[in-house]
Amino acid sequence: MLHPRILIAPTPAEAGRLAADQFEALIQAKPACVIGLATGSTPLHLYRELIAREKAGKLDFTRVRSANLDEYKGLAPDHAQSYRRFMQENLFDHICIKPENTIVPDGLAEDVSAMCQAYEKQIEDWGGVDLQLLGIGHDGHIGFNEPCDHFPTMTHEVALTQMTREANKRFFASIDEVPAAAFTMGVGTVMAARKIVMLITGADKHEIMRKAFFGPVTPEVPASILQFHPDVTLICDAAAWGE
Ligand code: GLP
Repeated sequence: MLHPRILIAPTPAEAGRLAADQFEALIQAKPACVIGLATGSTPLHLYRELIAREKAGKLDFTRVRSANLDEYKGLAPDHAQSYRRFMQENLFDHICIKPENTIVPDGLAEDVSAMCQAYEKQIEDWGGVDLQLLGIGHDGHIGFNEPCDHFPTMTHEVALTQMTREANKRFFASIDEVPAAAFTMGVGTVMAARKIVMLITGADKHEIMRKAFFGPVTPEVPASILQFHPDVTLICDAAAWGE
């Protein structure tokens, strides 16, 4: 088992700043880098920090390419709860990244297998992901890779568990409106990134953080596979770390 680098911050905002340091270092060293991005409430401090750093002239997203982890099946890009819209509103619309340099799986894809293959191909054509940002679901999911009996390798369609739909219903009018399926990078896609930053905040994530990083590696806890990645930085706030 390989050990992650662990950074513990007093607050979620400070954890976001530590994550922003990782992106700043990469973009300065490799201005045309490829970053993998995540949605959810956890990365919001990070995204605010990246916007502020670009405005302050410390960062330049002009040549950066980005690939998002996942998207809800059936939601149009401009749907209020689509991950494409989330990324536009919380990051892309406020930085100099070129629209053609941002990809999110197409929630409306009719030919799912063609869309998933094209997604993988685009990442490959860009030269692979340099830095992948991850959050974690309460059941250990990464992207939308839910607990199951194997680690899915490539971008694919997945049925969302009741637990994940419950957790995400806060963004929708009711649970019935939470899509039942999604498209997500595979665990293999994630593991192919050269460097991974996992951001975990909040006491409610303490238990799953322990299971993922200090428990057995099992597809029942998809994030546990990260124990086999050679370059993982785990950034927790004090509440998630549990001290
Ligand atoms: C969703 C996303 C994940 C994210 C998770 C946790 O399921 N697909 O990428 O990590 O939510 O979200 P939050 O940060 O809001 O707890």
